[in-house]
Amino acid sequence: MTQDDLKKAVAKAALDYITPRLNDDSVIGVGTGSTANFFIDLLADIKTSFDGAVASSDATAQRLKSHGIPVYELTNVHELEFYIDGADEINERLEMIKGGGAALTREKIVAEVAKTFICIADESKQVGILGQFPLPVEVIPMARSHVGREIVRLGGDPQYREGVTTDNGNIIIDIHNMDLSRPIKVEERLNHVVGTVTNGLFARRPADLLLLGTKEGVRSIPRKGV
Ligand code: 5RP
Repeated sequence: MTQDDLKKAVAKAALDYITPRLNDDSVIGVGTGSTANFFIDLLADIKTSFDGAVASSDATAQRLKSHGIPVYELTNVHELEFYIDGADEINERLEMIKGGGAALTREKIVAEVAKTFICIADESKQVGILGQFPLPVEVIPMARSHVGREIVRLGGDPQYREGVTTDNGNIIIDIHNMDLSRPIKVEERLNHVVGTVTNGLFARRPADLLLLGTKEGVRSIPRKGV
């Protein structure tokens, strides 16, 4: 079984989970990345059972539209029942690192608004402690050096992501070797660095349900206490 097979399996599991819970007025939040792309392609099969989608990136909006799925601006949407997205890493509290695809800011906004965040991921994304995957931060271009210095002060190694401009016109700095054993604390600390737009720690608002693709099948793991 390939990693893509596992991604397809969790995308299908997400579709099966939401389908009976949708109605004609439902708007679905859709994430960004290869796992989310498998989900979008499956969503096309049930496009008459819901109203439309909110996209977490321009790429996702384009893919949704290519399937004839109406795409709405988040600001015009009254209620978002589900947000379905992948992750770069996820721990047992369903806290995540996201932003490998540079879409972290819009992803975090859509996740914040959605009632239920369903993370779809293959088993390679499950970790004990976050931080093997470099933590992305979206930064206003003029603040690049300042933010880099602040990251060093916080104990991380900043690396400018060459050649990447986000959908919001900003840059990405990836943080290596940072202690993320207390993700909420680090997320909040980085939120206070002037010039950062968003950091890719999704700990204050973790996922509610993880659909994890394993060779033995898809495991459904709700967040403890949900
Ligand atoms: C994009 C993301 C993605 O969810 C994350 O990078 C996972 O991508 P993939 O499904 O391709 O492994 O956060 O900004």
